[in-house]
Amino acid sequence: MKNKVIYPGSFDPPTNGHLDVIDRALTVFDKVIICIIVNPSKKTLFSADERKNMFNKIYSGDDRIEITSYSGLLVDFATEKRVNTVLRGLRAVSDFEYEFQMALMNMKLKPAVKTVYLMPSPEYTYLSSSLIKEVYSLGGDVRSFIPEVVEKYLHRKLAKKRKR
Ligand code: PNS
Repeated sequence: MKNKVIYPGSFDPPTNGHLDVIDRALTVFDKVIICIIVNPSKKTLFSADERKNMFNKIYSGDDRIEITSYSGLLVDFATEKRVNTVLRGLRAVSDFEYEFQMALMNMKLKPAVKTVYLMPSPEYTYLSSSLIKEVYSLGGDVRSFIPEVVEKYLHRKLAKKRKR
């Protein structure tokens, strides 16, 4: 029986911070299930398929990684997958309140669900998908913060809007 963890998030788009958390998780867990949560009321730059394709390209051939998307409650996904451990990255104290609220809600909905946290490397502490989108759309160089494939997707999506 493999030791698995679910890594849920919006990943709009994936950043090197997410990848760093996944790398760290693979030193603790045998398998990481990346779960792109689709929330119909939340507007995203990339569709679920686009986000899935980005991860597929990044982790192509790595059987320690499963990539999936889900629309619904995380605890229901956990039940479907029969995995009760959820992973979240914790960058700074400012993340704590939001994470605390989600972990307690998930625990209330399904007491067996445990949330574990991993801190990314300090160089990614200030990194977020929203910041990447903003800086990129205004012409900033974000190449050191995102995988190459994500840069290609951003380019295709936002090239016209860029000021450069
Ligand atoms: O990357 P994000 O946007 O911070 O991730 C938040 C996410 C998607 C993990 C969270 O909103 C979530 O789990 N959504 C699924 C719906 C759900 O289960 N909500 C109740 C628990 S908070």
